[in-house]
Amino acid sequence: MGENMNEAKNMREKVCLITGANSGIGKASAIQIAEQGYRVIIACRNPGKGEAALQEIKEKSGSAAVELMIVDMSLQSSIKALADRFKSKYEALDVLIQNAAIFDITHKEIAFTTEGVESIWATNHLGPVLLTELLLDSLAQSSQGRVITIASKGLLAMPFLKVNLEDPEFRSGKFSVTKAYYQSKTAQIMYTYWLAERLKGTGVTANCIRVPSVRVDIDKYANLPGFLRFLYSLKMKATLSPEEMAKTYTRLATADEFSPITGVYFDEKLQPVNSSKYSVDPENIAQVMARTMDFLDIALTAPAASH
Ligand SMILES: NC(=O)c1ccc[n+]([C@@H]2O[C@H](COP(=O)([O-])OP(=O)(O)OC[C@H]3O[C@@H](n4cnc5c(N)ncnc54)[C@H](OP(=O)(O)O)[C@@H]3O)[C@@H](O)[C@H]2O)c1
Repeated sequence: MGENMNEAKNMREKVCLITGANSGIGKASAIQIAEQGYRVIIACRNPGKGEAALQEIKEKSGSAAVELMIVDMSLQSSIKALADRFKSKYEALDVLIQNAAIFDITHKEIAFTTEGVESIWATNHLGPVLLTELLLDSLAQSSQGRVITIASKGLLAMPFLKVNLEDPEFRSGKFSVTKAYYQSKTAQIMYTYWLAERLKGTGVTANCIRVPSVRVDIDKYANLPGFLRFLYSLKMKATLSPEEMAKTYTRLATADEFSPITGVYFDEKLQPVNSSKYSVDPENIAQVMARTMDFLDIALTAPAASH
């Protein structure tokens, strides 16, 4: 009986959901994963950009099994609607890639979402946690569900960075987009370790990729002063292409060799690397996750063990 169920799970078309897949690494990995025969759902905030990306991904991958779902990852109401839409259509989710994030160096002033949360904390950390938690049951329906979170190699330059438990939104004190961004990425790494621990024995894995400098579309930074645009374009020439970086996402998402691996922080070559001492400490992880849950109106559940 158990074996038959697993066979049925294996025969089904595999499904991968990628957030922020209308540009950059997310779009490139959507193409590669669609080429591997997965049904790919791109979850994007802008319908026009999402539709354009959908057509491009279909054309470049030669797959018609690509679909657009609209979500604003900064808004919990929008994330709940996405999870409901996904679950009403699909029984199982094989891969969830939490790729969407914001980092705009021209963003000098603190900004809040329409739900009243600081936008970087909301988009880069709370949103991915909420979406993952809401889709855990769907991931558990896969023969091997995989959650992939995304952090940044830039964190190496700030080994002592901590999540500000008192004020993770920088409501008091000076706002810094860099601090807010790296804090959100540190929290994502800590969430990955915490989730992997919680999901042990369920068949669902959780791993995090450390992204180095990767080319981004300079037009995204319309407010960048001319000289910074020039410096930025020089820097971009020396960085990885989104397509190269996407190969790392794709392998971790699809390769059999990674199916038993969980709770690992990987570099772009899929070599395990260490995150900061602070981020691996179980007490710090528990504190950050308790603080995270203050912002989310959900009860935590772990799917039943499937293996
Ligand atoms: N590029 C690098 O050098 C670098 C370095 C370290 C880490 N990373 C990480 O790598 C990942 C991919 O970045 P990338 O380089 O591919 O940059 P990108 O092209 O700017 O991709 C980010 C994606 O996230 C989406 N997004 C932002 N806010 C959103 C929201 N509220 N709801 C839904 N989607 C939202 C963007 O949509 P819009 O097009 O609508 O804005 C875009 O599709 C991110 O997690 C980033 O932090 C990148």
